[in-house]
Amino acid sequence: MDNRPIGVFDSGIGGLTVLREIKKQIPNENLIYYADTARVPYGPRPKEEILRFSKEAVDFLIQKDIKVLVIACNTVTAIAYDYLIENIDIPVLGVIDPGVRAVMNAGDIKTLGLIATKATVESMQYQNRLYKGDAGLKIIARACPMLVSIVEEGWAGTDISKLIIERYLQDFKDSSMDAIILACTHFPVLRDQIAEFLTDDIMIIDPAEETAKELKRILKDSDIENGLKDNTDTKFYVSDKADKFKSIAEKLVDINEVFEVAIGSR
Ligand code: DGL
Repeated sequence: MDNRPIGVFDSGIGGLTVLREIKKQIPNENLIYYADTARVPYGPRPKEEILRFSKEAVDFLIQKDIKVLVIACNTVTAIAYDYLIENIDIPVLGVIDPGVRAVMNAGDIKTLGLIATKATVESMQYQNRLYKGDAGLKIIARACPMLVSIVEEGWAGTDISKLIIERYLQDFKDSSMDAIILACTHFPVLRDQIAEFLTDDIMIIDPAEETAKELKRILKDSDIENGLKDNTDTKFYVSDKADKFKSIAEKLVDINEVFEVAIGSR
């Protein structure tokens, strides 16, 4: 029994798609969400920088006495997961292993589209794990950086996002693809428009559901579930533009207040 919060980290808005699923599957936990809004996007940055930013974010969450760290960001998982798991002494959960599991559990997929940030695509973390599970699988991976910016601007669901989705995914639609994995936590915010464009022929896979399931398992196996079922809360911290974050975030999750904290150099 442990009523300390679970720490959830992303570069920006995207991790809320994971937080939302955690709240759905595990409603009785205290949560702390941190978004590095001063330095989003992470995806186009060099590895060393992503690692440094991630360490700074995690130090902040550790100071808040979290009991588990959820890296609700594929880019950070791709670059910093190995470091974090070695160097912090609470359980760490990323989104890539759950994402890979979600693909494996999805049935007969011969051709998979993978959309993510540049850093995630180039890390080959998804591709290597998926090929290990199914050497015959064909993966078409594409970096879609503008989709991150669209979500950060609060432009999901507009004509602008529709056009950019079409531009990035036109040949996915024309190919004989079975499924597409949203390997960036920002992209489920655009899920309806992506689904509308790709039509029902292409299955859409979001790692969030499997991530929350895995988190539930970790809490149970480590015997750190929250015993006090009432008055659980979620606190939100950002490194810049709290008001802008709040106005976009509240379309995805219930949110009272967003605190701004100075973390790292800009
Ligand atoms: N939400 C992030 C991901 O899952 C990263 C977006 C970014 O900062 O570029 O990869």
